[in-house]
Amino acid sequence: MRTRNILSALTLLTGLALGSLALAQSTTIVWAASPISNNGLRAKLIAAFEKAYPNIHVKLISQPTNTDTNRATLVTEISSGSSTPDVYMGDVIWPAQFGHDGLALPLSKYLPASFWDRFAPGLVAGATYKGQIYGAPFFLDGGFLYYRKDLLAKMHLPVPKTWAQLKQEALELKKAGLVKYGFVWQGAAYEGLTCDWMEYLSDAGGSVFNANLTKVEIDSPQALKALEFMRSLITSGASPEAVVTYQEPQAMNTFASGEAAFMRNWDYAWAASQDPQNSKVVGKVGVAPLPTFNAADWPGHSTVGGWNLYINPHSKHLKADLTFIEWMTGVQAQTIMATYASEIPSNYAVQKSPEVRAKNPVLRIVSLVKFTPRPAQTPAYPSVSAAIYRNINAALAGSVSPQQALAQAQREIESAISGGL
Ligand code: GLC
Repeated sequence: MRTRNILSALTLLTGLALGSLALAQSTTIVWAASPISNNGLRAKLIAAFEKAYPNIHVKLISQPTNTDTNRATLVTEISSGSSTPDVYMGDVIWPAQFGHDGLALPLSKYLPASFWDRFAPGLVAGATYKGQIYGAPFFLDGGFLYYRKDLLAKMHLPVPKTWAQLKQEALELKKAGLVKYGFVWQGAAYEGLTCDWMEYLSDAGGSVFNANLTKVEIDSPQALKALEFMRSLITSGASPEAVVTYQEPQAMNTFASGEAAFMRNWDYAWAASQDPQNSKVVGKVGVAPLPTFNAADWPGHSTVGGWNLYINPHSKHLKADLTFIEWMTGVQAQTIMATYASEIPSNYAVQKSPEVRAKNPVLRIVSLVKFTPRPAQTPAYPSVSAAIYRNINAALAGSVSPQQALAQAQREIESAISGGL
């Protein structure tokens, strides 16, 4: 009896001691991330992580879906010296700027070389600036063509392989009264338009800089062909006039409500279009690589997008931050992202997994796609991109001619990089 009392007192004491120890060890990290998809993916990931690491709690800060506004809030916060967020989900176009300005921790100094082996080829190079890796690749995005397979079947139309064919079919489906709009995409003056633009520009054989990055060459006949075509989507009625104000969510909502026949959007759009809570087109959607200008060149280019996980250099929880990043890029988290939100996983084993592919139609066609990067290797990229999207948007809206827009973009980019790339 006495022994038992002593034992239980001891248990109580040790319990208390352990409890306070556990409490002392328990850490909360703040993760800033935009929604990724509209089906609660972040909460699902956090719950699975906290189950694997009960001592680390993750507090989510929901960032804007617009990558530019997202970046602006993080730049302000981190450059003020704030220690939150600890970890943030940041765009693949940020390493040069964030590395240059000290807004992200050089992860290659803290993670072993073997850590980087898990990623699909090319991703780590994209997250590197001046020899240091600033972001752990989280998922890869590409532009795809989403189409209404029920409507194409009804009108006996093929999945378009050229831009001209897409425009024609969009007009036909509209004329037949099957949809309110033909083709929706991202035409607003923001980073998303730079992404769409790079696809047409690359399809037309143009580029923003020459191959050795010494000259701006956006004011070219190829670029003019690309821009005139984009503008013609609007003037012909194949795309709604309001497309010049559309970001991803507006294009997605229009397509998911059944009002548009075609949509250019990223990988998440597959899962979003098949979510009965948010979509009226479940079971009616197909996904294909984007068209291009000449059928013989199919498939068209797809802009490399995607997001990395970065650490705030002022974070006070480095160990927990690294644990979180290691788990988020591991097999369990990456499988959740690829099967639940149709993302292209950064983890190569998950990307190649036949079981994961079976559940993700975007992943099944990703090897067909011709990826084209944005010219983001310079810390001045935000200004370069703004020069692109503001001028392209003005031409799409008809307030300047395509020639004027390209000449102006050329001048603005030259001045943005006048200090060197
Ligand atoms: C997607 C891409 C990102 C891109 C953004 C533009 O989120 O992953 O790289 O900058 O769209 O809107």
